[in-house]
Amino acid sequence: MERARVEEVVGDFVNLKRRGTNLIGLCPFHHEKTPSFNVSPTKNIYKCFGCGKAGGAINFVMEHEGYDYPEAIRYLAGKYSIQLEETQADAETIQAERERETIYKVLEFAWQYYKSQLHDTEEGQVAGLNYFIERGFRTKTIESFGLGYAPDKADGLIHEAKKAGFTLDILQRAGLITQHGGDFFRHRVMFPIFNISGKVIAFAGRQMVNSKRGPKYINSPETEIYVKRKVLYGLSHAKKAIRDNDNCFLVEGYTDVISLHQAGIENVVASSGTALTPDQIRLIRRYAGRITVLYDSDPAGIKAAMRGLDLILEENLDVRLALLPEGEDPDSFVKKSGLAGFQDYIREHGKDFILFKTQLLLKEAAGDPMRKTTLVKDLVETLAHIPEAIKRSAFITECAHLMKIDEHILVRETNKAYDEFLRQKRQGIPRDVDSAEREIQHQVFNQETKQTDARIQALPNLADQFQERDIIRILLSYGDKPIPDSNLTPLSRYILVSLLDIIDEFQNETYKKIMREYQDLLEQGKPPGPEYFTHHANKEIQNLAIELLTSPNEYARWEEHDMPLQIQLHPDINYKKDAFDAILRLKLKILMGHIENNIAVINQLQAEGNENEMIIHMRMHADLLQLREQITSQFKNVVLRV
Ligand code: UTP
Ligand code: MN
Repeated sequence: MERARVEEVVGDFVNLKRRGTNLIGLCPFHHEKTPSFNVSPTKNIYKCFGCGKAGGAINFVMEHEGYDYPEAIRYLAGKYSIQLEETQADAETIQAERERETIYKVLEFAWQYYKSQLHDTEEGQVAGLNYFIERGFRTKTIESFGLGYAPDKADGLIHEAKKAGFTLDILQRAGLITQHGGDFFRHRVMFPIFNISGKVIAFAGRQMVNSKRGPKYINSPETEIYVKRKVLYGLSHAKKAIRDNDNCFLVEGYTDVISLHQAGIENVVASSGTALTPDQIRLIRRYAGRITVLYDSDPAGIKAAMRGLDLILEENLDVRLALLPEGEDPDSFVKKSGLAGFQDYIREHGKDFILFKTQLLLKEAAGDPMRKTTLVKDLVETLAHIPEAIKRSAFITECAHLMKIDEHILVRETNKAYDEFLRQKRQGIPRDVDSAEREIQHQVFNQETKQTDARIQALPNLADQFQERDIIRILLSYGDKPIPDSNLTPLSRYILVSLLDIIDEFQNETYKKIMREYQDLLEQGKPPGPEYFTHHANKEIQNLAIELLTSPNEYARWEEHDMPLQIQLHPDINYKKDAFDAILRLKLKILMGHIENNIAVINQLQAEGNENEMIIHMRMHADLLQLREQITSQFKNVVLRV
């Protein structure tokens, strides 16, 4: 973690420009036109002020490359030429890891086998290679997509793999043998399927003649390493071009990907036989903000395209659609029309997906008012999946126009659907969103949809925890800073000692956790620096720490709470005074709570006519007021509203 400089690691993927002490670039995790992705070399963290993604070098490669933790560590070790000593994990983990590696190895072995069958055997050349050549695949293309041939034998691969030392168990777990123990792929041309980093994880095999017997393509079964919904065919070949073009063509078939590639269109992937999944869309979104769907214009093709639409919109991607001429798929069409012809066609026939859907539905419902009602419902669902308000409203206007219905009605209905959509989504909000942030999102949402009902009472709650939050901010930012001439140094010791008796009164559980952990570390003589929490293993704590240490607006919030900052020293110099004030404010706030409660009790007792008890609480009230006086007098410069 010391060696992996976040700016270097991120810099391999994002074009960063210097701005002040920080670096800034276009966020790789969401689509944006003006950069809001910040990298702080001093704090060794990144944070996107647009989408909220944040973390250190390890988080970045995990998120960006889809690695798990050990994979990310290995990647970084490789980048910095650090020798990794893989410690003795428990025997079970090591065994599982070794088996996973072996599955990759046997797939690699199978791949080499299919390739050599294609090129080096007579059967392969006659049946397989000729098939590819007749389809117009050039030698370079066959090579770059690693195409192969599975011979017409019951156990050709199994035999070779066993000779090379692989067990039947591993072959089975790699999806290479059938239930009956024979080769899974026989007498087919073979298309290896790669993961993002270009390792073979599965195969597809195609019959060389279209016969009625058996399916045209068969695909590897799902295995531990081949999870269909997370794989896009061609992505490892296409990712750079997708990023460069900020667009990804989505096609249906393996051969469509290969042919377009050969023709010079490299930003293309296929969902290969299954309906598009959210995982696949997210994969694309890492690289581009737009998808152009190229499907057949037959009803099945259109239907398949429609199914993915709402999902794509939800991920905030622009979606365009180009239907190809009757009877063509991208493969056949690009061969016929050539690169320029193909591109012209897409330019002329590419339509926005939502407007396309509107027109299609309109055509279906022509002259049938009942159908039109269902149509509006259907459309409203789609519109509600657009997360950006401006975009949503632009589409509403256009759709209302197309359908000749009152725009207000469409707005109202869409807002309703959006509300419901958000409600459902919120129930599944990931845990790593800080609760205060979540509440702000609710607020923004309310303003956006102009719903003024006070359904979500989030702000008072945020204000309630503001003082706590500020303590945590100071603790994490400056906790390791010394306080000269004090036995309560560093600053964290001073803060924690001052708050010892009120940690339990913290309302926010995460803040409480941080205080406790900080205290433990101090007691162990290991005072943590800011990087400890910004690289914390608990994602909730980590995100909160980054939020607190990077928020550009921390000071703007003071006004909201009637507590103007009195001394405008740079906070890096002012930390001691900041901490002192923050502690007082929190104590004051807690005290105010006690005063209010006590007043309520007094009123209650008065109503009950319980004089004796009432006196006791009146005395308590006087004590509390005195305490308040003590505290407020310590705010030397602060005028408090009483
Ligand atoms: P298509 O039938 O459109 O085939 O299936 P294609 O891609 O144009 O293939 P060629 O050009 O005839 O060789 C589209 C995709 O659906 C999946 C495959 O991923 C295929 O590429 N599919 C199709 C199957 O998985 N099994 C099948 O039997 C057929
Ligand atoms: Mn085809």
